[in-house]
Amino acid sequence: MKKVKMNIPDQGDYQLKEGLNQLKTNVAFCGEGIKVISITSSVMNEGKSSVAFSLAKTLAADGKKTLLLDADLRKSTLVAKYHIEGIEKGFSHYLTGQAGKEDIIYATEYDDFYLTVAGPLVPDPIRLLNSDLFGTFMEQIKEKFDYVIVDTPPLGLVVDAVIIGQHTDGTIVVIEQGVIKRKILQDVVKQLRTGNVQILGAVLNKVDQVSGGYYKYSYYSEGYSHGKHKKKQK
Ligand SMILES: Nc1ncnc2c1ncn2[C@@H]1O[C@H](COP(=O)(O)OP(=O)(O)OP(=O)(O)O)[C@@H](O)[C@H]1O
Ligand SMILES: [Mg+2]
Repeated sequence: MKKVKMNIPDQGDYQLKEGLNQLKTNVAFCGEGIKVISITSSVMNEGKSSVAFSLAKTLAADGKKTLLLDADLRKSTLVAKYHIEGIEKGFSHYLTGQAGKEDIIYATEYDDFYLTVAGPLVPDPIRLLNSDLFGTFMEQIKEKFDYVIVDTPPLGLVVDAVIIGQHTDGTIVVIEQGVIKRKILQDVVKQLRTGNVQILGAVLNKVDQVSGGYYKYSYYSEGYSHGKHKKKQK
C-alpha cells in the first residue's frame, strides 16, 4: 500500500481537542455495529470536511484502524488543506473504472490513519454514487477497517449525502452555530429519514465562546442516544 505525506495545520485549541474526544466517545457509544459513518450538513462551509478529518484522525490515534473516505465528488479540499503529497488516484478514478480499490487507499504517516481522496471532479456524481461499484466498495471496505468516516456534500444543495448515507451505518449532521434556519435543518432531517438514513447525532460547530475576552471556536456534540438503540431501517 502506498503512503502519503501530509502537513496538518496546528489545531492547538483546547476546546477543539476536548470536543473531538467527546465526539469520539459518543461514536464508541453508538455501539459495535456502527462503523461506517458519514458526515453531512445543510449548507456549505459548516465544517463537514474538518470534522470528518479530525474525527478520523482522533479515532486512529486511539488505535482504531480508520479510513477517511472523501465522497464529496463535487468539491474536495483535503489535498490542498492538509498539503497531502503522493496521491495518484482518488475515489472518482475507482468509480469510473480507472482504478481498483487497492489503488485508492493510502496509508499515512500516522498509524492506523488511512485516506481515500475524492480525485478529479466528475460531471455526474449522482450516477456514480448509484452505481454497483459504489455499493461494492462500501460493502467490502467495512471488513477492512474499524471505522470508515465518509465526507459528503451539503444536503441542502444536492442529494448525494442521502445516497451515501444509505450505504453507511449512520450519519452525523454538522451544524454551524447561528447560520442555519430551523426550517432548513428540519428539511435535511426529513430527507435523511425519508431515505432511511439513521441520524446518529449532531455536532454544533464553530461555537462562539467568550473566554478571557476573546472568542474561541469548538466542537460540541449531542444527541447520539437517538441512534443508540435504534435498529437500522432498511
Ligand atoms: N471548529 C472550527 N473552528 C474554526 N474554523 C473552522 C471550524 N470548523 C471548520 N472551520 C473552517 O471553516 C471552513 C469550512 O470548513 P470545511 O471545509 O470543513 O466545511 P465543509 O462543510 O466541508 O464545506 P463544504 O460544504 O464547502 O464542503 C474552513 O476554512 C475551516 O478551516
Ligand atoms: Mg467539505
